[in-house]
Amino acid sequence: MSTSTGEGFSSSFGAIMAAAGSAVGLGNIWRFPYICGKYGGGAFLLVYICFVFLIGMILMMSEFVIGRRTGEDSVKAYPKLIPHRPGWKFVGVAGLVTCFLILAIYLVISGWTTNYFWESLTGTLAGIADGDFGLHFSEFASSALRPVIFIGLFLILTTLVIIGGVEKGIERVSKLLMPILVVLLLVLCVRSLTLDGASKGVAYLFQPDFTKLTGEGILAALGQALFSLSVGMGVMIVYGSYLPKDDNILKTSVWITVCDFAIAVLSGIAIFPAVFACGQDPTGGPGLVYQVLPMVFNSLGAVGRVFSIVFFLLLALAALTSAISLLEALTQWLSSEKVGRTASAILMSAAVVLLAVAASFSFGDGIWSGFKLGGMQLFELLDKLTGTILPPVCALMTIIFFGWFMRKEDIVDELSNHGTVKVGYFNVFYYFLVRFVAPIALLVVLISGLFN
Ligand code: PFF
Repeated sequence: MSTSTGEGFSSSFGAIMAAAGSAVGLGNIWRFPYICGKYGGGAFLLVYICFVFLIGMILMMSEFVIGRRTGEDSVKAYPKLIPHRPGWKFVGVAGLVTCFLILAIYLVISGWTTNYFWESLTGTLAGIADGDFGLHFSEFASSALRPVIFIGLFLILTTLVIIGGVEKGIERVSKLLMPILVVLLLVLCVRSLTLDGASKGVAYLFQPDFTKLTGEGILAALGQALFSLSVGMGVMIVYGSYLPKDDNILKTSVWITVCDFAIAVLSGIAIFPAVFACGQDPTGGPGLVYQVLPMVFNSLGAVGRVFSIVFFLLLALAALTSAISLLEALTQWLSSEKVGRTASAILMSAAVVLLAVAASFSFGDGIWSGFKLGGMQLFELLDKLTGTILPPVCALMTIIFFGWFMRKEDIVDELSNHGTVKVGYFNVFYYFLVRFVAPIALLVVLISGLFN
């Protein structure tokens, strides 16, 4: 292993599971289905596929190359590649700050999910009347203590995995959880598709409606592609530094991207047929999972109870492997500053939990909801920054560095494992995407986002 901290994944399979674990998360199961439905189903899907494979996957490969080439954390990697321009370190710092903010908001939503898993298990959700789910959610999420308890529990679990180490913690947990996640999701899909009236849900997800695909929808597709693949913030630089030296970066990236995409689509298949079969509103937006789905589960009787437990467990596990990658990026950076790994993980967790708790207090009618920054509650502000602004900005800077400042010979050498893997004409195509297509697309979407 050649990382500065001496950590690394033991095999390509382990690396794929860990990176897919980072990619597959709340973004796939909670966010993708409702934006896909909102912006025209199949029409959105077409644009999304292009962004995922032509920009997201290209960025992932680029981050892997930077990480493995340098064996450094995301801040030190840039100046190590071009020592005469130390200012590029700033891109790594911006990525790290973004990771910190994403982790804070991620913890809040993961805390809600863990609470809903608990309430499914104990039967609390089953006892709520249909019309009361909206109220139940807002009362819970706006309360002071209960969300904080679940945020704390979730974070403790995440921190313990990080303390376990890269191979014995992250890799082992991902190898265990990712297959479980796929099985749980497939079970849900089969059940959902066999309900009466399920076909309407499938049509909602796949039938293209180009009238709904607005400029805002295209922006959402790009933001979602970056967020879902965990690219642009340096997390994949960190995981790249843990890749085995003989790992084929192209193959690994294709596997992770296909896996992430498939799980997003399967999540839509698990959710919408059930929503339609039970006559509920598919445009529930962000509240779909916490306010509409529990109603759907309740209307399915005893089977619905199991469905509910499985669904929230699935969501919590997916969130866990993603939160792990965010905390790992922060921990790796701090531990490369000569702080021990355990101390780094604990210090970073302690810092991020403060922001997560403040965001939770600011949500809805929470005790700090009156406190506004730029006219927004803290939760809304974090959501906006991490959902639409910071990831594309960081991604743009990363790709400009990669395409225009890093030496092409280094890139080709790393992609081909020092000439031992045949990459054929792919290099030419890849380089074209990296230098022109990805930065221009990112820039256009960012500028149009600003004008929106
Ligand atoms: N990819 C994760 C999801 O789809 O939920 C979220 C995420 C993890 C974003 C790690 C960014 C990141 F660096």
